[in-house]
Formats: sequence, C-alpha cells, structure tokens
Amino acid sequence: CLSKHLSSSLHPVGAQGGSVAKAILESKNFAVRAVTRDVTQPKALVLQDLGAKVVKGDLNDEASVEAALKDAYGTFVVTNFWEHFSKEKEVLRERGWPSVCPQGRLVADVAKHLGLQHMVFSGLENIKRLSGGKLEVPHFDGKGEVGEFFWSVSIPMTSVCVAAYYENFLLLWKPVKAADRDYYTLALPMGDIPKHGISVADVGAVASGIFNSPEEFLGKAAGLSAEALTIQQYADVLSKILGKDVCNAKITPEAYEKLGLPGAEDIANMCRFYCTKPDRDVKLTHRLNPKVKSFSQFISENQGAFKGV
Ligand SMILES: NC(=O)c1ccc[n+]([C@@H]2O[C@H](COP(=O)([O-])OP(=O)(O)OC[C@H]3O[C@@H](n4cnc5c(N)ncnc54)[C@H](OP(=O)(O)O)[C@@H]3O)[C@@H](O)[C@H]2O)c1
Repeated sequence: CLSKHLSSSLHPVGAQGGSVAKAILESKNFAVRAVTRDVTQPKALVLQDLGAKVVKGDLNDEASVEAALKDAYGTFVVTNFWEHFSKEKEVLRERGWPSVCPQGRLVADVAKHLGLQHMVFSGLENIKRLSGGKLEVPHFDGKGEVGEFFWSVSIPMTSVCVAAYYENFLLLWKPVKAADRDYYTLALPMGDIPKHGISVADVGAVASGIFNSPEEFLGKAAGLSAEALTIQQYADVLSKILGKDVCNAKITPEAYEKLGLPGAEDIANMCRFYCTKPDRDVKLTHRLNPKVKSFSQFISENQGAFKGV
C-alpha cells in the first residue's frame, strides 16, 4: 500500500502522535508508519500490534527523517517543546547550528524534497507576533514560527491548533488543597472567559478526518476544541464528579506569575492570549470526531487519577 501510505506520525507514541496513529489505523484508509527514537518502548509495541509499521527516527537526524517519510502520502507532525524547553530547537535555525538540524526546518525540507501530498501540522499561534511583542509564550511562539515557515514554502498542509488538553487537569492543573481547609482550588488566570479544552486522545480522529478530506482541508487552518468552559464551570464539574469542594481561585495573571511555579509567566501569558478568544472550532471538531468527549465525560472516566484528592 505504498501508493497511499500515510507515514511517519512524528511522534507516534507521544500523546498526539499516538492518538493520530491509532485513529488512522482504525479508519483503515491509510497504512501507518510510526516514527520513534525507541522502537522497543511499550507504546511503540502497542502501535505495532495495532498494525503500524514502527520505524526508528529522530527529528535531529536528517537521514532518519528522510527514511521515515520516504514514499509517504502524508504526515502528521508535532514538535515537542517540552523535550528541551527551547523555542530555537523547534524553529528555523540554519543547518549546522550547533550540531543538530532544527526540527521545523528539517521536516519542511524533507517534506518538500520528497513531495509529500498532505501534512497535518499541529502548531499553535505565534503570540509574540500577534501581540506586537507584548506577550511571549515560547511554547506557542516557536510552533507559530514553524507554521508560518511551512506556509511560506508552500508545503501542502492543514495546520491545527489543539486546545489545552483535559489531561492537564490530571497533573499540572490538578486542584490543590487549601491550607488547613476542607476545599480545593483551581488556579488558572482566565477571569470569566471560557477556556477551550479537549482530550488529546480525541485529537486523532479529527486529524484522521482531515487526511480523509484533503479537498476540504488542504491549505486551511483550524483550531480544535471539544468545548469551552469558564474556570468556575471546570471547578463545578470537578466538584460534582469527585464529590469534593473545588473552587475557582479567581487568580489574576499578575498573581499567577508570582506563584513561583516553573513556567508561570508562560502560562499567565498563554491565558492572557486565550482571553482574546483565538479561533477554536467546536463545531468542526465534533463534525470530524462525533465521539469527542466533554470535560465531564473525561473526568468521570479518569476519576482514578484523583486518588488522594
Ligand atoms: N499539553 C497541552 O495542553 C498541549 C496543547 C496543545 C499543544 N501541545 C503541544 O504538544 C507538544 C507535545 O506533544 P505531545 O503532548 O504528544 O507530547 P508527548 O506525549 O510528550 O510526546 C512527545 C513525543 O515527542 C517525541 N520526540 C521528542 N523529541 C523527538 C525527536 N528529537 N525525534 C523524534 N521524536 C521526538 C517523543 O518520541 P519518542 O520518545 O518515542 O522518540 C514523544 O513520543 C508540545 O510541543 C506542546 O506544546 C500541548
């Protein structure tokens, strides 16, 4: 099936890549070649059992990316800011700097050279540019620059911006117990503006739908979201399902920055940007994945993660 081989879900065993690979395998419209640096890891073996061809590849190694994408019809790409916390590594440095090929540039070069017909790029907005330099959110800005570069060199592409994962509430944004009190707080500086969300496990079926309708989606950009809730509504869902009192901390971005958490300024600026209501298309997301979960469904299914809360 190499004539219609959808390859190289860079990165297949990660949250987004794995979700996309599984959904495409389920759709049976394409064969999947899944790329990982460690073909022996359990998640890679799961994908192999599901029917993917798992191949070794590293975004810092041009030959391996070229081999991974060779003969492919298309590819799903997400670069991983959190692996190195470096916007520069995601973006567009010239080759040879310092010893690795920057990831976005490398993928663009290889995709162009091999003549891929459809790339689905999971990017995010270049907030620094959009805000005229007032807000910097490195894990958005780098992906924004990569996407702008992909468009500028005419990669046949659909770019998607995935809303904040619901999975963040199981870890980073888990409600925190108020000191010496019997309630928990949820601290995200969004005021009363609804914040979009989606389970990353539901992104795959949306990407699969995009690959299956190139005539509708090539050359387009879309924001993906299951629904938008205020922080009060997120807290209400958590209270109801967990049977605990979870309150909206009603924190401001300025106070959030002073919490001393790693990446606090980044998150505060991300929320300032979210308050400008960037496009996240709930209707389209539901059309492409009718089984997309609400926050309430997601929390109900993941109550085990809140043991001890
Ligand atoms: N958290 C959110 O709410 C949210 C929302 C929207 C977008 N995002 C973005 O999503 C991205 C992370 O994606 P994810 O959630 O799928 O992460 P993840 O589950 O941590 O997976 C990351 C994957 O990246 C792969 N990887 C890292 N460096 C690589 C390299 N040099 N070559 C090949 N593969 C490499 C890893 O593959 P192997 O280890 O298998 O090689 C790993 O499977 C971030 O950039 C983040 O900004 C996150």
